[in-house]
Amino acid sequence: EADIVNKLPLRGKRILITAGPTYEAIDPVRFIGNHSSGKMGYDIALRAAQLGASVVLVSGPSHCKVNHSGIQLVSVVAAQEMYEACHTYYSQVDVAIAAAAVADYKPKTIASQKIKKSDTEFSIELEKTKDILASLGAVKTTQFLIGFALETENEIENAKLKIQKKNLDLIVLNSLQDEGAGFQKDTNKVTFIDKNFTIESMELKSKEAVANDIINKVITYFNA
Ligand code: CTP
Ligand code: CA
Repeated sequence: EADIVNKLPLRGKRILITAGPTYEAIDPVRFIGNHSSGKMGYDIALRAAQLGASVVLVSGPSHCKVNHSGIQLVSVVAAQEMYEACHTYYSQVDVAIAAAAVADYKPKTIASQKIKKSDTEFSIELEKTKDILASLGAVKTTQFLIGFALETENEIENAKLKIQKKNLDLIVLNSLQDEGAGFQKDTNKVTFIDKNFTIESMELKSKEAVANDIINKVITYFNA
């Protein structure tokens, strides 16, 4: 029994994870999206499930595959759908990890027919999407809440602001400094900053290894 507990330190724990991009429709055939592959979130989900957690993986469009019975995949497309799915499960989970690259803006209206080209300039009016992570932080009770941050300047300061603004317990700052890190890559270089602003810079490593580091933070939290 002790052996099983040691090998499956997340047994009985429920974890909500967001992954992938969101697609915000412009008309029936076009959208605003981004290059997120979803890999980081799927790797975190797999590691958590391997260690015994029950995972709800809320994912935007991604080619990544789910290959573990401990992962329930909830597929969504737009930020609003991702928001609703997250709030459906949030009250039942112990941990939430927001790895999705959610679109910050969406078209104010979705054209019902394909927009035809014309000889004039064309522009789309955008409005903000809901900040899913901040909305989870705002209704947080006992959940351990982890967010990501992608910054290109004043990285640490901006990440600390996100911890406070979104009521996070831990933020995973993506370093774009490194050629091997980021979107559409298999590697990542991250810095962990916790709510007490303790900073831990990690080496460039595979996303599987980064996922393992993140899940180790969760295990440390449960053992504290
Ligand atoms: N996030 C979210 N919902 C949004 C936007 C972001 O849940 N509408 C989450 C992301 O999943 C990530 C964190 O918030 O965990 C930070 O995302 P990021 O794009 O770095 O920050 P933003 O708050 O969107 O601010 P900005 O893009 O202006 O830096
Ligand atoms: Ca953003």
